[in-house]
Amino acid sequence: MAVETKSKVVVGIVGCGVVGNGAVRLLVENARWIAQRVGAPVVLKSVADIDWERPREFPVPPELRQTDAETVLADPEVQIVVEAIGGTGAARRVVEMALSRGKSVVTPNKELIAKHGRDLLASAAQKGVDLMFEGAVGGGIPLIKPMKESLAGDSIQRIVGIVNGTTNYILTGMARENRDFGEALAAAQQLGYAEADPTADVEGFDSLYKIAILAAIAFGSWISVDQVYHEGITRVTAADIRYARQLGFAVKLLAIAAHRDGALDMRVHPAFVPLDHPLASVGGVYNAVMVRGALVQDVMFYGRGAGAGPTGTAVVGDVLDCARNLLKGAAGRVPCRCFRQLPVLPIEQVVCRNYVRMQVTDRPGVIGKIATCFGNRGVSLASVFQPDAEVGDHLAEVVWITHEVPEERMRAALADIRGLPEVAAVPAVIRLEQGEREQ
Ligand code: HSE
Repeated sequence: MAVETKSKVVVGIVGCGVVGNGAVRLLVENARWIAQRVGAPVVLKSVADIDWERPREFPVPPELRQTDAETVLADPEVQIVVEAIGGTGAARRVVEMALSRGKSVVTPNKELIAKHGRDLLASAAQKGVDLMFEGAVGGGIPLIKPMKESLAGDSIQRIVGIVNGTTNYILTGMARENRDFGEALAAAQQLGYAEADPTADVEGFDSLYKIAILAAIAFGSWISVDQVYHEGITRVTAADIRYARQLGFAVKLLAIAAHRDGALDMRVHPAFVPLDHPLASVGGVYNAVMVRGALVQDVMFYGRGAGAGPTGTAVVGDVLDCARNLLKGAAGRVPCRCFRQLPVLPIEQVVCRNYVRMQVTDRPGVIGKIATCFGNRGVSLASVFQPDAEVGDHLAEVVWITHEVPEERMRAALADIRGLPEVAAVPAVIRLEQGEREQ
């Protein structure tokens, strides 16, 4: 049966890096298929980038190439602008300009949405256009739309995810090869899985932006990223990963957001995850997010969190959604629905179990003294374990697992312990994430 096609929708892309190029490919190669799905041709008219010399996986047809974003933004025919520049400088100006001119906007830019999404969505609502950002979290994994639409009837309680492929690749490599962080990072950089400047990924910023976006949608409250505790993976060692495995855990960089008693427990940090937890087996560059709703219970999303194909697919899915809305006169159909401002719990008040690795003088009574310090601060211990590791200088490595304890008590105990003459170093404190699944 022939599909009726009316008019057309015109798209312009600003920024033709990996993701922009992936979106160009899909819009060009799948144009016929897309027209059938949308009910009208979705025409890519122009792609702006400052550098057309560098090689790209998909050659952009010369007639589409522009060197100035303004050419795209000023074109009255362009109804949808894709921002694929990244960062919050030029990208922010492009998005603001496009919205102010009444164009719908699609962006996979997590930093932009996490930091300025509230204002940008308000501009979009004022103009009655769409601002969509499916590609900002989890690359090709559908997450934003399921959270905004499919799960909107339930009350979301908790989101726990691995939302950064670079760090997951590094941690997986460290576990597999028994390597320390620096070595695993260098290997990831050589293979192109980590950037030359890996700060945003390895220090947890990328995960922070992504969990802030998911939490805003899930809990209806904008999150100020400055309020969210984040810790990267640079201090995780091969020894921690080895001990984790001996104790039945994997080490993962988790992004967590949970709604409890009118406040949000939000954080990004490396965590011990039980080996039978679904997130423990998420390896390499893959991402996975578990969402728990009061009635839907656990829902898990899994897939590739980055790259031309995955993120390009998310971007083009949004473009098609914007196009459908424009054709139906329904642009702005799913606006920002943040209706409250929930406080984010300071990390000191967050309650966790903990793994602690320390190097101590190897003589009778030392473990007792340390246990007393924990006890004095109300930290209950679940186990202590002395691996056979040689740390030299008559020092022994001792590993502790605590029961759940507020972070501030944990910190107080560790300050006391660090002051003991028998304690040479406390190189690792890693939180344990047990999960709250139904068994
Ligand atoms: N740098 C991100 C990652 C991909 O490593 O997952 C883009 O968000």
